[in-house]
Amino acid sequence: MTQTASRPVDAAALDTLFLQAHTHNAWHDRPVDDATLHRLWDLARMPPTAANTQPARLLFVRGADAKDRLRPTLSPGNVDKTMAAPVTVIVAQDLEFYEKLPQTYPQTDARSWYVGKPEVIADNATRNSTLQAAYVLLAARALGLDTGPMTGFNADAIKAAFFPDRPWTANMLINIGYGDPSGIRPRNPRLSFEEACEIL
Ligand SMILES: Cc1cc2nc3c(=O)[nH]c(=O)nc-3n(C[C@H](O)[C@H](O)[C@H](O)COP(=O)(O)O)c2cc1C
Repeated sequence: MTQTASRPVDAAALDTLFLQAHTHNAWHDRPVDDATLHRLWDLARMPPTAANTQPARLLFVRGADAKDRLRPTLSPGNVDKTMAAPVTVIVAQDLEFYEKLPQTYPQTDARSWYVGKPEVIADNATRNSTLQAAYVLLAARALGLDTGPMTGFNADAIKAAFFPDRPWTANMLINIGYGDPSGIRPRNPRLSFEEACEIL
C-alpha cells in the first residue's frame, strides 16, 4: 500500500530531522555497523530524482586504510574531524548514470535523453546527486545518527585515490556517526520566510 504525506510525522521526529539537529564536528568512538549503512541506503534511495536517474554512488570510508587514503584529499580544517568520524561517505556522481535507465525507468527510452549530451549529463548528475546527498543526510538523522557534510576537499585527488577508472566525480563528503555535542557550533540564523520565499 502506498503511504502518502497525509500522515505527518510527530514533533519529536521534526526535532530529530530538522529543528534540533546540528552539523557535527566531534565524534564518539562508537562504530557504525554494516547493517546500519544498509538501512541508511534503503531509506536514502527512496526520495525522488529526475527520471529516477539516481546518479549518486556512495563510498563508505570506514577502514583505517581507506581513511588514510582520504586524509590528503581534505582541506586542512576538515582533517581531524574526518579522521575521527566512524564513517565518511563519499557521495560521488556517476556520469554514466543513464546506462541504468533501462532498469530504473523502463517505461520509455530515457537513456536517449542523456547519452552523447555532456552538458545535460553533468547538469542532471550534479543536481540529482546533490539531492541524494541531502536524502542521505536526513536518512542518517532519521536513524539516530549525526552528520557533518563537507565540500572542503580536492575532487581530483579523491578521484585518483578512490575511483580512477570509473566515470565518477566526487560531489560531497558526509561524516556520519554518533556526535559528541561538544563539537556543535552555535546555530547561525536561517533566512525568514519574507527573506527567502514569495507566494505568488
Ligand atoms: C554542502 C555543504 C558543505 C559544507 N562544507 C563544510 C566544510 O568543508 N567544512 C566544514 O567545517 N563545514 C562544512 N559544512 C558545514 C556547514 O557550515 C554547516 O552545515 C552549516 O553552517 C549549518 O550548521 P548547523 O547544522 O549546525 O546549523 C558544509 C555544509 C554543507 C551542507
